[in-house]
Amino acid sequence: MEEQAKKRIYSAIQPSGMLTLGNYLGALRNWVNMQQEFDCVYTVADLHAITVRQQPGDLRRQILQTYALLLAIGLNPEKSLVFIQSHVAAHSQMAWLLSCYAQFGEFSRMTQFKDKSAKHADNINVGLFSYPALMAADILLYQADLVPVGEDQRQHLEITRVIANRFNNLYPNVFTMPSAYIPKTAARVRSLQDPSQKMSKSDPNPNGWVALLDKPEDIMRKFKRAVTDSEASVRCAPDKEGINNLMEIYAAVTGRTMQQIEDEFAGKGYGEFKTAVGEAVVELLRPIQQRYNDYMNNRDYLEQTYRAGAGAAEAIARKTLSRAMKKIGFVW
Ligand code: TRP
Repeated sequence: MEEQAKKRIYSAIQPSGMLTLGNYLGALRNWVNMQQEFDCVYTVADLHAITVRQQPGDLRRQILQTYALLLAIGLNPEKSLVFIQSHVAAHSQMAWLLSCYAQFGEFSRMTQFKDKSAKHADNINVGLFSYPALMAADILLYQADLVPVGEDQRQHLEITRVIANRFNNLYPNVFTMPSAYIPKTAARVRSLQDPSQKMSKSDPNPNGWVALLDKPEDIMRKFKRAVTDSEASVRCAPDKEGINNLMEIYAAVTGRTMQQIEDEFAGKGYGEFKTAVGEAVVELLRPIQQRYNDYMNNRDYLEQTYRAGAGAAEAIARKTLSRAMKKIGFVW
């Protein structure tokens, strides 16, 4: 294991041209902040994406868009490793090794596998099943100490630890044991149309979610139409899910506390508040969209950056892979 001054963070996101405000305020913004304190490795998890069917043109575009968006939100490729998973062959190689140290029964119990199999009943491919082995490979290749994960990926991190532990017991000192990292602040952004649900791009109602690349007028419209209750006073209360959600978004964007927001909007109606939230979000996203467009218009820079990222990642990943291969007994 390498000696590191700072703890290493690993995280990854599947390529989608439609990252949401929820992804940003709940996770991605923390990725940016963590760069100050940690040694960070961030990946566009394109290999994971093909566990469900993808159109080649769409996949290609979305990988590039997601990479550009990661730079646009402020991931700094000079400081962190920011690359595309499939560019580093060791991910696939390590996933195979790890799949031989994971049990069929263990993977069968993964709730994401059960959910996705139900949703894509016509394509329950083996990759969907062995998904956690690839995710474990991602994390373990870089000897990550910490993995910021949401609720939905907690089980995958747990199985990663089980695999790492089993492997290390057979062949000592190969992998660092990763832990879940829970950032101090992570907004839980809910659907603007059904606040009992998390904001998601798979929301059947497109007004329920805001994409990071939405146009200002669309963002304003979505906030103006956001579902609230009939009380019409800007105050949080357990049963006012709609207004709570808007207040949480406004707090996350402006850095204000709930109390400050209540004071600011005392005696004012929902209409005024929704406009303020919409405007705050538009201003938050404006520079991100601007930078995103600049990157997308500079393909040479993008390519140079993701190639350099992959090169640097490869050097670390190779070392771990080679160590694991040798320990297992390969002539390597
Ligand atoms: N499976 C994760 C998701 O869908 C993405 C991912 C892939 C990941 N590899 C990872 C997250 C490693 C954390 C660590 O959200």
